Amino acid sequence: MSLFATKTIESLLAESEGRTGGETLKRTLTATSLILLGIGAIIGAGIFTLTGVAAAQHAGPGVVYSFILAAVGCAFAGFCYSEFSTMIPIAGSAYTYAYATMGELLAWIIGWSLVLEYAIGAATVSVSWSAYFASIMKDAGIEIPHALLASPWDNEPGTLNLMAVIIIGVITSILIIGIQESARFNSVVVTIKVSVVLVFIALGYFYIDSANYTPFVPPATSEKFGDFGWTGVLRAAGMIFFAYIGFDAVSTAAQEAKNPKRDMPIGIVGSLIVCTILYIAYAMVLTGVVNYKDLNTAAPLAVAVDKMTGYPWMGKLMKLGALAGLTSVMLVMLLGQSRVFFSMSRDGLLPGLFSRLHPKLKTPYMSNLLLLVFVSLFSAFTPISKLGELTSIGTLFAFVLVCIAVVIMRKTQPDLPRPFRTPWVPLVPILGVAFNLLLMFSLDKLTWAAFLSWMVLGLLVYFGYSRSRSHLQKSLAAKK
Ligand code: ALA
Repeated sequence: MSLFATKTIESLLAESEGRTGGETLKRTLTATSLILLGIGAIIGAGIFTLTGVAAAQHAGPGVVYSFILAAVGCAFAGFCYSEFSTMIPIAGSAYTYAYATMGELLAWIIGWSLVLEYAIGAATVSVSWSAYFASIMKDAGIEIPHALLASPWDNEPGTLNLMAVIIIGVITSILIIGIQESARFNSVVVTIKVSVVLVFIALGYFYIDSANYTPFVPPATSEKFGDFGWTGVLRAAGMIFFAYIGFDAVSTAAQEAKNPKRDMPIGIVGSLIVCTILYIAYAMVLTGVVNYKDLNTAAPLAVAVDKMTGYPWMGKLMKLGALAGLTSVMLVMLLGQSRVFFSMSRDGLLPGLFSRLHPKLKTPYMSNLLLLVFVSLFSAFTPISKLGELTSIGTLFAFVLVCIAVVIMRKTQPDLPRPFRTPWVPLVPILGVAFNLLLMFSLDKLTWAAFLSWMVLGLLVYFGYSRSRSHLQKSLAAKK
């Protein structure tokens, strides 16, 4: 039964406060920096690249409904994350919550799937960044050879995506310098990218051709699931789910929040609300300015901007905004990943290297460096579509488990103080589970195969290494 051994909340909190002797992270983040952290992680490749394809291939202007649907699914998960992050305000996010509720094995499984969300998520975004960077350079008259911009397995093969690797290296350096520096950098970048999206919405509004909205949900073109009609709206929701990934990353920084009990829900739900509003407005403008049939491109913004005559500088501004946006997504994803590893290592499930803090900077620098190597391999050698779907499936799985964990915790620890309570338990968590499972099943077979292989590898590591070194298992054995 020790596979299901759980850590007590008291011991979790004691560790986070340094009462057990280990090293701790600094509490410096305010509510505003948490919201900015969330927005930093959320707005990125999802809207800068995926929206156009989702509209063109599946939903037409109905992609607006897809954004609403995906937001509802995320909101269920967001409430559950908020409950946990106020109850257990320490690093590690879903991994830590699972350790306190469902036991070590499931905690491990969740931690392992979070690697898909954060590390592979960062790799996905680095590939998108590389494409935007090359395009900006090209505008400036500098051509970067294609061999250094694509993996050997892309439709148009290259040697390795060196630009993606370089940006991951730069972000890693910022993270090693410090959380406050990272938060400050993030705030600047978020301001830029939100401004760009707002400018696009405000100016684009005047170029909307209402003819593009009819029909708003184009009728199904075949019997197949996802070929327009309402199944198309659902399929598009599965695709653009990627655009919302990141709000939960706020919870990984709980241990660095000044006042987590009040500020975690503000950070998680607040960033989700801001982004949902921006996304819906953005999708309305995009599909209003351009007919959805013309949006089958990786750079939908550029197509829309071309229609907005009178603002020739807009195209370049949009690209810069996108570049900035993508940068902060990587920053928060890698930050989240190193914090999850930090917790797993503190528990003995990963080598101590992952929780070693830099003597002066107080950041988990070894973890950041090891991640740099791991993420770079994926950035350099994997096509973006594969990375994106893998990120989504890992995230959806973590969401499902967090929703289940809330219900378990209400039963097993009903009296524990909950500064934030998920409304309508168990309805909201159950809807969260159902919704996120639905989106998981809308992903393709190859993604499932990669996901299951990753999970099997995780189990091998757990049974081969982590289980015998787990601090919890050792202390249980000592008590016998
Ligand atoms: N939501 C993030 C993005 O769209 C992962 O880039």
